[in-house]
Amino acid sequence: MKINKKDVIAALETISAPGEGQNMIESGAVTNVVCFADEVVVDITINNPSLQAKKKTEVEILKTIHDKVYQKAKVKVNVKVEAPEKKPEIKGKAIPGIKNIVAVASGKGGVGKSTVTANLAVSLAKMGFKVGLLDADIYGPSMPIMLDVDGQRPLAVNVDGKSKMKPVENYGVQLLSIGFFTQPNQAVIWRGPMAAKALNQMIFDADWGELDFLLLDLPPGTGDIHLSIMQSLPITGAVVVSTPQNIALADAKKGVAMFRQDSINVPVLGIIENMAYFTPEELPENKYYIFGKEGAKNLAEDLEVPFLGEIPIVQSIREAGDYGRPAALQTETPLAEAFEELTRNVVQEVVNRNTSLPPTEAIKITTMAGCSAVNKK
Ligand SMILES: Nc1ncnc2c1ncn2[C@@H]1O[C@H](COP(=O)(O)OP(=O)(O)OP(=O)(O)O)[C@@H](O)[C@H]1O
Ligand SMILES: [Mg+2]
Repeated sequence: MKINKKDVIAALETISAPGEGQNMIESGAVTNVVCFADEVVVDITINNPSLQAKKKTEVEILKTIHDKVYQKAKVKVNVKVEAPEKKPEIKGKAIPGIKNIVAVASGKGGVGKSTVTANLAVSLAKMGFKVGLLDADIYGPSMPIMLDVDGQRPLAVNVDGKSKMKPVENYGVQLLSIGFFTQPNQAVIWRGPMAAKALNQMIFDADWGELDFLLLDLPPGTGDIHLSIMQSLPITGAVVVSTPQNIALADAKKGVAMFRQDSINVPVLGIIENMAYFTPEELPENKYYIFGKEGAKNLAEDLEVPFLGEIPIVQSIREAGDYGRPAALQTETPLAEAFEELTRNVVQEVVNRNTSLPPTEAIKITTMAGCSAVNKK
């Protein structure tokens, strides 16, 4: 049997690459097709780095060629993942191998900090950055569900004779969560230094590889736990998430003040307004300002910190979080674009921060007989 290249191309014209509207020939996703005898090799470039997307594309091509061209064809698919945009060069030196640690905080709970963090991580990975995410929410770690790796556990790997934790990967994001180490439904009572120690282990005793960004999803609030976490890690900068509601804004203000206080001194990269307005999916032009209008934007102006962007309340954002498929995975939808714009602004602020300020120092906390002393390293 001699397979005809034209038939293969015609078959591939009936399917599209993940997230693309056009068929994979028209969109240019298929970069080469070679046929000899009963063998077909298809080269394809996609811009979605998730394992699922790669696998799905492969299976779909295989099935289409078998169904439409030749049932017994030996098909080989080479999938190349390419960043959709040119990314700025990311400098920084938080910890060897990890260029920047960006903390995401909120003050008030439930404003969408974890949702925003998961989407930022996915968006950064889509842009081609190497991304890690550390879920530091000791009260309610939600990242394993939001990134669909609930039930998985990090494996132990041997690095230079030392045993290290290998983060769990999905959607191009490497994840470690405090939730991997606690039982579901188990209430864990943490004190600041304990939480800081656990997080330190997840950073220093883990095999993250090279990272452009390590995002840190912090627990809500501005308490003792936050002080310990912030002081023990060299955090490049923090972003504060708020809804436009007064009560959330008051807490966001406390959050900014916390980062700015002398004993912490972490640069605030900016404020994100989440749940900025409600848009029914069937009436995307309509905007209802349920929690008030532009509250976080105004707060950013008052506090003289950059405003990084706004995300509306959309049912699919909540559903995407619950199903573990962050909305930012979509391509060319208004939502994915909103997350992309937000992500570009965060990257820009990290670049600005690194050109204007020296790296943040960690502070070593030593606990002596019940009282804690704070020493600059
Ligand atoms: N823009 C949005 N549109 C719709 N639902 C959202 C949006 N942002 C967050 N949510 C939903 O609101 C709820 C709270 O969000 P999330 O868990 O991200 O908040 P959080 O600030 O991390 O909470 P916590 O303080 O408990 O850590 C979740 O059910 C989430 O799916
Ligand atoms: Mg959370």
